[in-house]
Amino acid sequence: MNGIKYKLKVIECDTYENLSNHAAMMIVQQIAEKPDSVLGLSTGGTPVGMYRELIKLYRSNHVNFGGVRTFNLDEYVGLAPDHPQSYHQYMYHNLYKHVNLPENQRFIPSGEKKSINSEVNHYEKKIIESGGIDLQILGIGENGHIGFNEPFTPFKQTVHTVKLEESTRRANAKYFSSIEEVPERAITMGIETIMRSKKIVLLISGFKKKHAFQKLMSSQISEEFPASILRLHHDVTVIVERDALF
Ligand code: PGA
Repeated sequence: MNGIKYKLKVIECDTYENLSNHAAMMIVQQIAEKPDSVLGLSTGGTPVGMYRELIKLYRSNHVNFGGVRTFNLDEYVGLAPDHPQSYHQYMYHNLYKHVNLPENQRFIPSGEKKSINSEVNHYEKKIIESGGIDLQILGIGENGHIGFNEPFTPFKQTVHTVKLEESTRRANAKYFSSIEEVPERAITMGIETIMRSKKIVLLISGFKKKHAFQKLMSSQISEEFPASILRLHHDVTVIVERDALF
């Protein structure tokens, strides 16, 4: 990381469909330029439309995932890969089962409790051994988190486990039958891991992210608002839906 501040490239989209299409096209272009690209992928509500577009583009022969490797940002600690709310299941249903991305080329950190400490080192090492992430897709939390790096996570942090903030658990409770069921911990790429990506695409959708977008564009670079670090990265595109604009 350096001290130079870069301007974030912002693309405003009228609709969620446009945002999704734009993000999918950036991935397609990345793979066209480098068929063995390493992609960093994210989960949550925001990228669902992007995955839908990617599947369409795959079916119409506009993209080939055969040489691609993918690394997901995070996973809940304590959810087995077959748990319906695990990010393993999310990725299977939203992308993997629809496209030709080979099973041995897709990676998600394991949230299994018994091996969580070794997974922290193992996952970071695997990303480095892959040659590093060419294009990382990110979402943003209402509190400014990227991945599951909650406020005050040190910027120098690599893959690690975190205690989720109450606000994060509340935001994700809609996918579980109650907030008590939302795991309290997660394993996530660290900010340092994310910042090493060659390109970053941040997706921001919905009026609930208005404040986060505003802070991203105006706040000091500080661990209190993790996404602010992106202004020290030389190649970040923010694709923002009109609803989230101030
Ligand atoms: P969301 O999550 O897309 O479900 O809003 C984004 C995030 O918390 O990073």
